[in-house]
Amino acid sequence: MPTMKCDYLSEVWKDDNKVVFCTGGAGTICSAQVRALVHLGANACIIGRNVEKTEAVAKDIATARLNAKVLGIGAVDVRSLDSLQAAVDRCVKELGSVDFVIAGAAGNFLAPITQLSANGFKSVIDIDVQGSYNTIKATLPHLIRSAAKYKTDGKTTPKTGTGGRIIFISATIHYTGLPLQAHVSAAKAGIDALSAAMAIELGPRGLTSNVIAPGAITETEGMQRLIRKEDVTAVEKEIPSGRYGRAKEIADATVFLFSDAGNYINGDILVGELNPSRVRNVS
Ligand code: HXC
Repeated sequence: MPTMKCDYLSEVWKDDNKVVFCTGGAGTICSAQVRALVHLGANACIIGRNVEKTEAVAKDIATARLNAKVLGIGAVDVRSLDSLQAAVDRCVKELGSVDFVIAGAAGNFLAPITQLSANGFKSVIDIDVQGSYNTIKATLPHLIRSAAKYKTDGKTTPKTGTGGRIIFISATIHYTGLPLQAHVSAAKAGIDALSAAMAIELGPRGLTSNVIAPGAITETEGMQRLIRKEDVTAVEKEIPSGRYGRAKEIADATVFLFSDAGNYINGDILVGELNPSRVRNVS
C-alpha cells in the first residue's frame, strides 16, 4: 500500500479509536478501502464467508499501521441476520464501537435471462440487497450513537472528526443495462435505492449514507467473472479514460466520504467510469 499524503484527512481518525465494520472485507476493493482507513488511524472488523481468507486479509491489513486492531470474522453469510448480529456484537465487544460501515458483500455470475433460475435471481438479491439491509439492521444502533457524538451544525466541526457514516458498494451496470446481468443489475439498483432512503431518514440524526459505484476495477473477482482474458485489452480501450480503475482509487473516495470533507454529502452516488459493455460470451 503506497503512503498516502492527505494531512487534513488523517485528522479524522487520529487518537480516537474509530471502528470500521466492513462486509465483503476480504475482497480486492473492500480490503483496499479498509486498509486506507486503518492506515489513517481506524481500527476495523472485516466480515467474510471464508474463514481462512478473511483472517489472513485482516492480519495483512493490520500491518498498515503500528498497533492497529483488525478483526477478521469468517463464516458469516450476510443473508443471515443472526450471524451478522453476532459479528457486530463481537466487534463492539473487542473494538468498542462501530463508527463507519462499508456494505460490500456481493454475489455475481453470468447468466442469460432465459436460463437464469428463480433461485439464482433470488440468491444475488439476497446477498446484495437483503445482505446490505441486514448489515445496516445489525449496526444501526451503534452508528446512531456514533453520529450523535460527531454531528456538526456546519459552523463548528467537532475536533474528533466524523462518525455514523455508511458506504454501500454498488456498480455501474444498472445505469446502462448489461447482458447476462439482470439479477445483479436489479440488486445493485436496490442498493442505490436503499441508500437513498437511509440518507433521507437518518440524515436528521447526523448519519450519512452514500454509494460508491465502481466501474471496471482491476484484480477483482467481479472483473474475473465478467471479462474474458482475451478481451481484457480491447475492453480497456472502451473505457473513457482508456484504463481500468484501481482499488486504491475506490479507497481514496472512501477516505473522502468518511472524512470532514464529506460532511455535506448524503444520499449521493459516486459513479466510477461506466463499465464496458463487453462481457464473457455465454450462449
Ligand atoms: C447460472 C447459477 C450460476 C451460474 C449459481 N447459479 N451460479 N446459475 N449460472 N454460473 C444459481 C444456482 O444454479 C442456484 O439456482 C442459485 O444460483 C444458487 O446457487 P448456489 O451455488 O447454491 O448459491 P450460493 O452458494 O449461495 O452462491 C451464491 C452465488 C455465488 C452468488 C451464486 O456466485 C457466490 O457465492 N458469489 C460470491 C462471490 C462473488 O460473486 N463475488 C463477485 C461479486 S462481483 P438453482 O435454481 O439451481 O437452485 C460484483 C460486481 C458486480 O458484485 C459488477 C461488476 C462490474
